[in-house]
Amino acid sequence: MQRIDRKSAAAILLPLSWSPVVESATASAPVNIALAKYWGKRDEELHLPVTDSFSVALDHHTTTTVRQAIASDDITLNSIPLPTDSPFYIRCVKFLDLARPSPSFFFSIATTNTVPTAAGLASSASGFAALTLALNTFFGWNLNRQKLSCLARLGSGSACRSVYTGFVRWQKGSSPDGSDSYAIPYDDWWPELNLAILMLSPQEKPISSRQAMRLTVETSPVYALWPEQVVKDTIAIMTGIRERNFPAFGQAVERNALMMHATMFTSTPPVCYWLEKTISSMNMVWQARKQGVELYFTMDAGPNIKLLYLQQDAQSVLSYFPQARAVTLLP
Ligand code: DP6
Repeated sequence: MQRIDRKSAAAILLPLSWSPVVESATASAPVNIALAKYWGKRDEELHLPVTDSFSVALDHHTTTTVRQAIASDDITLNSIPLPTDSPFYIRCVKFLDLARPSPSFFFSIATTNTVPTAAGLASSASGFAALTLALNTFFGWNLNRQKLSCLARLGSGSACRSVYTGFVRWQKGSSPDGSDSYAIPYDDWWPELNLAILMLSPQEKPISSRQAMRLTVETSPVYALWPEQVVKDTIAIMTGIRERNFPAFGQAVERNALMMHATMFTSTPPVCYWLEKTISSMNMVWQARKQGVELYFTMDAGPNIKLLYLQQDAQSVLSYFPQARAVTLLP
């Protein structure tokens, strides 16, 4: 297949030339939690996925301010300057290169997160989405949401879903330049749906989701089953939302997360983000379900668990998991 580099992919989205139209620009974007996961790329450079994915937005945000800097890019995360050799600094600068009007133009980026970075709560998604939205204002690009979603994707795949709130579907697209691989909002909402986070470890991940994803695609024999499974799960999730069928929705969400982890366990070398507490919490969810509580979970590339339940079961869920932190979902 024809390969397109990031600069060319960005050039399709951006005007021919640009310069700042304001002194500073600030934007926020929500954390999103995938209910049907993005796991595996057909293009590593442009973050083009093998499958569609589907997410819901949380009332946790990244807020980012963009300014011009004098001599080099400076990036702060929760008021702490990022070392220039840290992986996240390098990723941000690579992304900023796409927006840099000339090689002698530097950025000052101040980012704050309301969730611990790299703890499996997808703060890189909200981070690159907020940065994209702030750059759009800073340079007066006036890009529409579709283009903003494509641009955010070049920072981190899942960031393309964080340019919207509510339920969001990232359609994988088929074009080699990625111009049809962007998120679209799903036109339904489920006010009774609840999510709570079981923070089992705020530690940095042993291996990044990016590396784990690549390793899985390259080595797991189970990965061959993944694309078809995601199609089935995404349909079941969307139908579950439409029909307010919580068991059907929950089963598809939980199966999808477990299947993603199954592809990791079967890669070489194996990847396991789970802690003992992760397994005991999953058992507790299954136990609660046997006892009649409609409770399901999802997990990302990390040990933490996100519980999903309906408002009517909130009390029972919190009695099983008193340490769970309920998070507001953002319509
Ligand atoms: C498990 O979007 O962080 O959270 O595109 O390499 O930056 P890159 O990956 P990233 O992967 C997210 C993986 C996931 C599932 C999901 O959010 O869909």
